[in-house]
Amino acid sequence: MSGHPSPVLPPPDEKRGYVRDMFAAIAPRYDLMNRLMTLGRDGAWRRTVVKLCALPRGGRLLDVATGTGDIAYEALRLDPTLRVIGLDLTREMMLYGRGKRPGLTFPFTEGDALALPFADATFDAACSGFMMRNVTDIRLAFAEQARVVRPGGRVVCLEITLPRTPVFAALFRLYFFKLVPLLGGVISGRREAYTYLPHSALAFPRPAALAEIMAAAGLHDVHYRLAMLGTVAIHWGTK
Ligand SMILES: C[S@@+](CC[C@H](N)C(=O)[O-])C[C@H]1O[C@@H](n2cnc3c(N)ncnc32)[C@H](O)[C@@H]1O
Repeated sequence: MSGHPSPVLPPPDEKRGYVRDMFAAIAPRYDLMNRLMTLGRDGAWRRTVVKLCALPRGGRLLDVATGTGDIAYEALRLDPTLRVIGLDLTREMMLYGRGKRPGLTFPFTEGDALALPFADATFDAACSGFMMRNVTDIRLAFAEQARVVRPGGRVVCLEITLPRTPVFAALFRLYFFKLVPLLGGVISGRREAYTYLPHSALAFPRPAALAEIMAAAGLHDVHYRLAMLGTVAIHWGTK
């Protein structure tokens, strides 16, 4: 984490409301921006997340911060016997997700990742995609997912990470801090949301530090792998 307050990021006590308002505003163009920014690669990462959830047939999956539901839909596409619930803070994101894949449905539930409205050990696995940068307490978010997963079940996290390779890191920063806000401004009309995005990634723990936070939240056998030239990290651990 950068120990300095960022001029772009909201103070912690305002972050939850800031994040919700931001996603409500960009919801109509969220999916399109994802496809453009990731050159269409995000589908592959979501598939990896679902596979790492190691669900049995008919298993129960909680997709925390489901947004427009892409991980939950991918899980159902891979195995229609799964029982999936998607939860999110922002109703507008879920409104754009509901019904977007004909033939695949799951309940969208409004709720907070830091106080999941489920009993202990309700699910076989819990996952989140591009959420952890947005919460005020990462350890608590993992602890909540660990709580609602049965013993032996998986918790999986997909997030952006900034690459370390010297030349590529500089190029990626140019893309992420300059081009993405421009593109986001044009596509969604909300340049500030796509300025928040790279700054929130900059303030987010490095992959090894995130693995330690997962372990501190009670998960064991924590591992991670990097994708997309080290710009995406997928972590997983077992309860
Ligand atoms: C970048 S989007 C990711 C959506 C989806 N998981 C995906 O992979 O496309 C982040 C989502 O996290 C949600 N979110 C942020 N903070 C949250 C919280 N505390 N509890 C639940 N959802 C939250 C936002 O509303 C938003 O829909």
